[in-house]
Amino acid sequence: MNAPETTVKTGKIMLVGLGPGSNDHLTARARAAIAEADTIIGYVTYIRLVADLVQGKEVIKKSMTEELDRAIEALDRASQGKKVALISSGDAGVYGMAGPTFEVLFQAGWTPDSEIEVEIVPGASALNTCAALVGAPLTHDFCAISLSDLLTPWPTIARRLDAVAYADFVVALYNPKSGRRTQQIVEAQRLFLRHRDPQTPVAIVKSGYRPKQRIEFTTLEKMNECDIGMLSTVLIGNSNTFFKHGLMVTPRGYANKYAVEAGERNTRDGEQAGRSLSTGLNGWMAAIQASGKSAAELAAEYRLPEDYIAAVLASEVPPEGEENEIEG
Ligand SMILES: C[S@@+](CC[C@H](N)C(=O)[O-])C[C@H]1O[C@@H](n2cnc3c(N)ncnc32)[C@H](O)[C@@H]1O
Repeated sequence: MNAPETTVKTGKIMLVGLGPGSNDHLTARARAAIAEADTIIGYVTYIRLVADLVQGKEVIKKSMTEELDRAIEALDRASQGKKVALISSGDAGVYGMAGPTFEVLFQAGWTPDSEIEVEIVPGASALNTCAALVGAPLTHDFCAISLSDLLTPWPTIARRLDAVAYADFVVALYNPKSGRRTQQIVEAQRLFLRHRDPQTPVAIVKSGYRPKQRIEFTTLEKMNECDIGMLSTVLIGNSNTFFKHGLMVTPRGYANKYAVEAGERNTRDGEQAGRSLSTGLNGWMAAIQASGKSAAELAAEYRLPEDYIAAVLASEVPPEGEENEIEG
């Protein structure tokens, strides 16, 4: 019997996330990947962030707009049997080099079984690191939106901003403003103010964990008076986010279930630890079915599509299992 054919891997592409840009926040694997590489490819600023690690290696510096060129160059070197580290700030898979690299690889006919190995080395993205600098703004549902219209049509960006503002997400705005793109953040604010309280907490982190770090706390209505640039991330809270003692915090939802008085935690009437809220799916389904209200009335009350409400009214409330869950 013949042994199964295995492809001998030769070259390697490592998509390395550097984290925010400080040595302390560069992961051990990212450091090792850079050490292992023969060639380092990246945007000049990112290469500068790891200058002490790249000595003696081939270094290919590219400008911000040459992402595809960086990926093509990486494939070229890896095809010659070299190990290449393609470096991104934050995480390479978050508005970084991972996507364009796979697009170039697939176009060249690459598959995971090909001779060139690909490794993605995760790093802390700006939303993690900026959140850590301001408190705990992302402890409930959140999303990221890039305001860059270099590759995305503005109506697509605007529609997403409108949807998440309406749906009360905490939002991290990447690429909020540059020397040339100054109006996008104004439009983002305009869309948010259609749904959100002008006093909604906002934090702006510029150059987080880098020497020129600057943090500003403000509100939705005043955010455009702040210093925002290419190296800023704008964190907009949800309707429950608050500032206290210089920290921005989004509650996890414990107050819906527990009342803490005089240092004691008491479960609110009708609620049980480890179980869905009384207004969770089952409780809510039972309540709307018993309400006698029409789908149209309920749709307006809960700001949900009428056909969805009609479907819920026609469904049986599912039985709830016995096992308790970790709350979250
Ligand atoms: C092209 S995106 C790259 C994102 C990166 N891959 C990540 O995961 O953080 C560039 C944007 O990331 C954000 N950003 C990157 N580094 C930052 C830092 N140190 N402080 C604040 N924001 C940062 C800014 O919004 C900037 O405009």
